[in-house]
Amino acid sequence: MPLFKTINVNPTTQILIWKVTESFDELFQKVVLKEKTQLRLNGMKSELHQRAFLSVRMLIQEAGISDFDLHYDEFGKPYLDDGRYISITHSHNFAAVIVSEETVGIDMELQREKIIRIADKFVNEKELKRLQSFDTLDYIKKLTVKWGAKEAIFKIRNEKGISFKDHIQVASFSLAENKTHACLFFDDLEKMFEVNYLEVENFILVYAFEK
Ligand SMILES: CC(C)(COP(=O)(O)OP(=O)(O)OC[C@H]1O[C@@H](n2cnc3c(N)ncnc32)[C@H](O)[C@@H]1OP(=O)(O)O)[C@@H](O)C(=O)NCCC(=O)NCCS
Repeated sequence: MPLFKTINVNPTTQILIWKVTESFDELFQKVVLKEKTQLRLNGMKSELHQRAFLSVRMLIQEAGISDFDLHYDEFGKPYLDDGRYISITHSHNFAAVIVSEETVGIDMELQREKIIRIADKFVNEKELKRLQSFDTLDYIKKLTVKWGAKEAIFKIRNEKGISFKDHIQVASFSLAENKTHACLFFDDLEKMFEVNYLEVENFILVYAFEK
């Protein structure tokens, strides 16, 4: 499938989502890759990962960005030559990018029951108690939003030692709002984030702006 969805969040922020239905060859024919990217692609063990990685190149092309303009820092955080911010996510058969003049992070997660078992690894007891009163599907959805928010914030800050459970608190929210906020307390710093989320098929897509 070509581009699945474009969301113009504000005049300087765009999200592009790709549903990966094409074969490796179909995608590969449509992108122009620099040598470094080609080497990364060659080193990937899973074809699904390769297809998602190529889909990200399709998405940046849609946004008018070439693979030659996209780079990674030593931790794997992507950045652009033109100074705008970019954040990337891929999960199973979806890939998404956000490009903005503001500091942004994006994450996409499949909603699965398994998240209930690992909840205590990334949310603190107070957050957990508040959430558990919801029915199971809502509980999974809310946990997935929290997880995605913390991943998106981690991608913005890109700092070693950040614990999702101890350092990032997502405020309570109702699913209908599609918006909440979060706070990162780390290294004597307190940073606020605006968190937005939406459902894309059975996935939750979360994007966060540093305030
Ligand atoms: C790096 C990390 C943020 C990637 O997230 P993910 O959900 O596994 O995978 P996603 O597909 O959403 O994101 C992958 C993309 O994130 C970007 N990325 C990788 N490292 C990054 C970093 N340090 N900072 C910002 N972005 C990063 C890359 O663009 C990457 O895709 P690409 O290399 O194909 O371009 C994640 O693996 C991680 O390290 N999280 C923090 C660790 C942690 O605390 N985990 C949970 C504790 S309970």
